[in-house]
Amino acid sequence: AETRADGRAGLVGSAAAASLDASFRDDRSAPPATMVIFGASGDLTRRKLIPAVLNLARHKRLTQQFAVVGVARSQLDDDQFAAAAFGDADTRSMPSLHGGIRYVSGGYDDPATYARLAELLVDLDTSRGVAGNRLFYLATPPQAFPKIINGLAGAGLNRPTGDSFARVVIEKPYGHHETSARALDACVHRAFDESQVFRIDHYLGKNTVQNVMALRFANAIFQPIWNRSWVDHVQITVAETLGVGSRGSFYEHAGAMRDIVQNHVLQVLALALMEPPASFSAEAIRNEKVKLLQAIRLPGDRDIDDLAVRGQYTRGGTRFELMPGYREEPGVDPLSRTETYAAMRLDVDNWRWAGVPFYVRTGKRLPSRVTEVVLQFQRPPHLPISAAQVREMDPDALILRIQPDEGITLRFGAKVPGHSFRVRSASMEFSYGDTFREESPEAYERLLLDALIGDPTLFIRSDEVQQCWRIVDPIIDRWSQDDRPIPTYEAASWGPMDADRLIGRSGRVWR
Ligand code: NDP
Ligand code: BG6
Repeated sequence: AETRADGRAGLVGSAAAASLDASFRDDRSAPPATMVIFGASGDLTRRKLIPAVLNLARHKRLTQQFAVVGVARSQLDDDQFAAAAFGDADTRSMPSLHGGIRYVSGGYDDPATYARLAELLVDLDTSRGVAGNRLFYLATPPQAFPKIINGLAGAGLNRPTGDSFARVVIEKPYGHHETSARALDACVHRAFDESQVFRIDHYLGKNTVQNVMALRFANAIFQPIWNRSWVDHVQITVAETLGVGSRGSFYEHAGAMRDIVQNHVLQVLALALMEPPASFSAEAIRNEKVKLLQAIRLPGDRDIDDLAVRGQYTRGGTRFELMPGYREEPGVDPLSRTETYAAMRLDVDNWRWAGVPFYVRTGKRLPSRVTEVVLQFQRPPHLPISAAQVREMDPDALILRIQPDEGITLRFGAKVPGHSFRVRSASMEFSYGDTFREESPEAYERLLLDALIGDPTLFIRSDEVQQCWRIVDPIIDRWSQDDRPIPTYEAASWGPMDADRLIGRSGRVWR
């Protein structure tokens, strides 16, 4: 595959070769570019984006022809922005950042903001030699996305000149439901070609999420058991100990279903269940994810209460007794009905997974921070051990630990040493930290580099977003019409009792 002037791997030769070029090289570095961050005074910029830029600079993945321009309504000058966003990082010693941190203040619907931005970008093109390449990062609350897209188009900043590129990275949530996601797409596509659009889900930037693909498709041994013949059911958990903290006003309009399930959970699920792609090209992987998402059965109206559960955390629990309950958090309505916990059973109507239930759950203020995928296997067809021993044993399972404590556990039965024949659960562990010495880039660092290079593999295509909304929309609609009190759970518990009933209905239990 060839690399074009814009640093993008051209689709020359086979798609597989192009993807190898784009994703597999370890010496990847960004082409000259200006990164423009909208929402530059915000939480995401300070906590994730700028640390990712700093790491890329430290690891020499940025050239000297690089610049960061912050845009937001707050009245700041260049130095104040640099101090607020970069803290005490010594950017003077980093050639890719020294002298290249700038700020534009203005309203997102004011054409003058974009005129000032355009002027500054032209100035940086010549003064820093960034060659007209621009990466626009939308890190504002989602209601500002259409304004920014229209503002960029109004100033002609959506159109790259010559060999340069203009790309836009759009944060989640992408839309509020399927209809608004389609409307946002229409707005985005009026200004940008799909090849310029990078919809971000930072879970795809996590090494361990990518390792789901490595485990499945770089090894033959798991393929024969990765299906309905051997898997009893699958559990996906995204549990957080954090509450909503200062993000109450954002979270009130989102809830766990929109904040985590629609994106992070369904992306992990799609990678774990999809068919093997013919290559690791962006399109091949995204095609397989979409096919899997399309095969997820929608619950009928009357089934939703049996298949989906929500909950809201209250003050309480041993570790969190001094922490506020959700309704006491700043920015949250004291009578709020927003869910901070969601669990559901999904069924996938295809040959590989017909009849296998998938249980997913996510929640804030749960007892531990853990993201994992558990494939629980069927019991052997005939057990030469006593029923009492069977009860003692956990079923065989393959546990993909996404975070923290990244790794893989294989749980199986083993003979207990001694004169009698007793079997008990044992496990084999693979730990990322113990096995590999290589440093693991933060999710945002990896994704930012990909967007600068122009590799869309770990970004979400428009049809994926729509499929994910198709799956969660009926449940969100049902909950919004349900005027019964929202179930609650004490902070530091594993969610509402209904969640145990949800999985217990098929005789199973959460891990
Ligand atoms: P913030 O609430 O911190 O907002 C970012 C900035 O946007 C603010 O500093 C503010 O800047 C501006 N802003 C605030 N409200 C509005 C508004 N109504 N209209 C226009 N601009 C506004 O958001 P975050 O940084 O937390 O999140 C930004 C985006 O990133 C969101 O889409 C979020 O879903 C996503 N995200 C955030 C994560 C996080 O950890 N924070 C994680 C994953 C995704 P000013 O007033 O100066 O214009
Ligand atoms: C974000 C959500 O997308 O993911 C947050 O908006 C959540 O509510 C966060 O806390 C979790 O990300 P991570 O990487 O800490 O698991």
